[in-house]
Amino acid sequence: MSLFIWTVVFVIVYFVLTSNRITSAILTNMRHEINYFGMATMSTIADIINRRKNRLGDVPKRTGEVAIVTGGARGIGEYVSRGLVKSGYHVILGVRNVQAGKALVADIKSEVPSASADVIQLDVSSMESVRRFADVVKSKHPKVHLLVNNAGIIYGDFHLTQDGFESQLATNYVGHFLLTHLMMDRLEKGWESGRCARIVNVASCAHYGAEIQFDDINLERSYNSTDAYARSKLAQLMFTRHLNRLLLAADAPVRAYAAHPGIVASDMMTKCPQTQLAGKLKILFKTPEEGARPVLHCCFSSELEQPGGNYISNCEEGYSTAYSKNEEKQKKLFDVTCDMLNIKRFGVQ
Ligand SMILES: NC(=O)c1ccc[n+]([C@@H]2O[C@H](COP(=O)([O-])OP(=O)(O)OC[C@H]3O[C@@H](n4cnc5c(N)ncnc54)[C@H](OP(=O)(O)O)[C@@H]3O)[C@@H](O)[C@H]2O)c1
Repeated sequence: MSLFIWTVVFVIVYFVLTSNRITSAILTNMRHEINYFGMATMSTIADIINRRKNRLGDVPKRTGEVAIVTGGARGIGEYVSRGLVKSGYHVILGVRNVQAGKALVADIKSEVPSASADVIQLDVSSMESVRRFADVVKSKHPKVHLLVNNAGIIYGDFHLTQDGFESQLATNYVGHFLLTHLMMDRLEKGWESGRCARIVNVASCAHYGAEIQFDDINLERSYNSTDAYARSKLAQLMFTRHLNRLLLAADAPVRAYAAHPGIVASDMMTKCPQTQLAGKLKILFKTPEEGARPVLHCCFSSELEQPGGNYISNCEEGYSTAYSKNEEKQKKLFDVTCDMLNIKRFGVQ
């Protein structure tokens, strides 16, 4: 058959399949998985090529300053906490499992006896828990110098949290949005002699190809967990950029950054059923310590001080999509999220 006839047959088969709801859902899911697999492959190759760039400069002294790391006891977060403690920060680990957090602090102290760290219960997917956590931190600390929004989940079946948010959106984005809002008055006091306080959102290259579904933010009509992860990470990146613009406009001494850690052989990548292949290929991926470096770069680098709003990958400016840079959509998402959380006036406005 000629190429023309093959093309006609393909188009007819495609339209027959996509007009059926079940096959259309299967094709959509396949598209998300192929997109994610392709993105992860490209990002792994980029990590290998740029391995030498993924280095931290001199670690500055931050003795007496206060940092918060959500999910700071495991995976990439553990090495972010370790890096911050070594620079002298008093590190507050916001964790679900307080015992695991305390075990990490004991281990760090056996290595660095002068280490200063605290563990406070936090389930970032629950807005009640986020509010409780913020109250405890604020009761102890009049100033906060650094907030690292690291906790994250990937995959799982569709479910809504007690607040009515899709679980990945709640954990990766909405809970951190609320935490940032609640901590803003402490962050605004956390500048030190010409140095702004910082918010570092641990984002992901998974945002490539994703768009925000404003008319169905919880993806209740049709759900694919890979797609939900991508959208939650896109939301986090768009929030970072819009927030940094608001901070600049308000002349607030706080800056916001997003860091893509790379493709990292943490539990997230190696222990869930959907990424078993990744577990077998983990030699190709970054270790959690290497994944923590771009995050720590956002915490430490003086070169990033002005104007802020960077998306960092392998300790340099990374590639992010045009959609993530769309200021109108960033503002729309910010306003929608304020409405979802019933926030009348965000910290910096
Ligand atoms: N691994 C990668 O390849 C990769 C790539 C790009 C971006 N990232 C991002 O990097 C961040 C860290 O991921 P990871 O690779 O280190 O994964 P991980 O090893 O699975 O660690 C996830 C961390 O998040 C915490 N967490 C999850 N849900 C939470 C909740 N509801 N409340 C409080 N803490 C919660 C976990 O605490 P528990 O011990 O309580 O579960 C754990 O400390 C995530 O934001 C992720 O999206 C990872």
